[in-house]
Amino acid sequence: MNNFDDKVIYQIYVKSFMDSNGDGLGDIPGITGRLDYLENLGVDYLWLTPVFVSPMNDNGYDVADYYKVDPSFGTLEDLTHLIREAEKRGMGIMLDMVFNHTSTAHEWFRKALAGDPKYKDYYIFRKGRNGEPPTNWISKFGGSAWEYVPHLDEYYLHLFDRTQADLNWDNQNVRQELYDIVNYWLDKGVSGFRFDVVNLISKPEVFINDDEGDGRRFYTDGPRVHEYLKELHRETFGRTDNAITVGEMSSTSLESCVRYSNPREKELSMVFNFHHLKVDYEKGDKWSLKEFDFQELKDILNHWQEGMELHDGKMALFFNNHDQPRVVSRFGDDGRYRKESAKMLATSIHMLSGTPYIYQGEEFGMTNAYFDSIGEYRDVESINYYNILKEENLQEEEILRILQAKSRDNGRTPVLWTSEEGHGFTTAKPWIPFSKITGISAEEDLENQDSIIRYYRKLIRLRKENPVIQKGSYRIIQKNHPSLFSYLRSLGEEKVLVINNFYHEEVFFDPEETEVRNLLSQRYQILLSNYENFTLQDGKILLKPYESVVIAIEPH
Ligand code: GLC
Repeated sequence: MNNFDDKVIYQIYVKSFMDSNGDGLGDIPGITGRLDYLENLGVDYLWLTPVFVSPMNDNGYDVADYYKVDPSFGTLEDLTHLIREAEKRGMGIMLDMVFNHTSTAHEWFRKALAGDPKYKDYYIFRKGRNGEPPTNWISKFGGSAWEYVPHLDEYYLHLFDRTQADLNWDNQNVRQELYDIVNYWLDKGVSGFRFDVVNLISKPEVFINDDEGDGRRFYTDGPRVHEYLKELHRETFGRTDNAITVGEMSSTSLESCVRYSNPREKELSMVFNFHHLKVDYEKGDKWSLKEFDFQELKDILNHWQEGMELHDGKMALFFNNHDQPRVVSRFGDDGRYRKESAKMLATSIHMLSGTPYIYQGEEFGMTNAYFDSIGEYRDVESINYYNILKEENLQEEEILRILQAKSRDNGRTPVLWTSEEGHGFTTAKPWIPFSKITGISAEEDLENQDSIIRYYRKLIRLRKENPVIQKGSYRIIQKNHPSLFSYLRSLGEEKVLVINNFYHEEVFFDPEETEVRNLLSQRYQILLSNYENFTLQDGKILLKPYESVVIAIEPH
């Protein structure tokens, strides 16, 4: 299998990227129109969130027909045109495959509901127990994970919304249907895939109550998941030699992720995990307010970097995506130090070992939405939790504050291309309001010499030009430093030291107190920094607010 450690991937949330036909919704021709911008950035692949026919209850993660492009996004011709135009510019297209579940509007599910036994077995239907659902499992979007169908007197399983019914992967026909879909899109010229929550596809043989939690321990990294991923690989993208694949792994373990992504296992090219993005959850509860725990963030990133390196697993590196609040608002400072902290956060991730992902708008420091009424939210999860928190008697104001910090819509506001009305995104009313923070756009960013976009270009270039950043081993420096996240990448004699100040107070990095004390007496070169001047005082490096430095230490 190929290695993708010299590549950088850009994620496009299609609905919010670029509207080409004035209906307020982003679409595929809109992406094609912005390819030059993406080529300039220097990314290698574009991951498109699902573009298939869907009732859009979960913005396309509820697929009703995997073979057809949703008319709101364009046509098959638009998509093949995009694939060709991207290819001309050296970029590949990755599609998002949602195979844990289908929309309840999918033909298979409709036939299942009509009582067709063949299609009922495509899903997970079970009898209730004493008038209650088959188990006490909780859906990831809130409420029971089972939905009752009166005319069948049975429940179907939905780990997400009730309009997203879980597929039965134990049924070989289901697997074959899904492999045919992957092969169909490979034939259309796509370069790879992202597989949605793919570590949840294998359910246990018997369904029992979870006395300790919401049921996830029974289906996460489930009993036959590796067998199924190996089969998927063999039957589809494994036949081509250069497809790129990434699996989204929900509540997973390091051990499982090594198996999913170690090239010898022949499953996937790399994996996303989310442990580092739960460091601002109060006792694991996302819907609460908590300052992020910096030490925990470092410990988790460190654990995964070390563990994946040791066992040859491959990591997708990221802070942002369409399910996460914007990182500059979350772990940075989206006010006074927006630029500095956006660049620092980017550095801390891009210089790690793995394959970096950039989420649309991140490259010029887009922030959270700061919506101030529930009417502005669109996301099914956010609206469900608004209602749940209401039932728990939280005050409206408090709930809105929680949503402002936690809602997935924070990452889903339209891309701010320009500062004009419509922000270069649309000529109509956008499907979701723009972020309330003004003075941010790609155009305005590029007017400055010290723009965030240019900084991202440099980060990408650094990875491409330096084998040590691609392949070097990783070692954390001063693991327990209260404000610095520093690490060393080494490949033979080549060494790169990365120091990131996560706070607005100035702080010294004192090599004398670290394992690298001898290194800095050698010749070194600043490869990149988010400030103009690098400050050395008495042999110590002074890190300014949210400063990052990337230092190449030259071999003797
Ligand atoms: C993944 C997607 C998310 C979606 C969920 C259910 O986590 O990233 O947007 O809601 O799966 O498909």
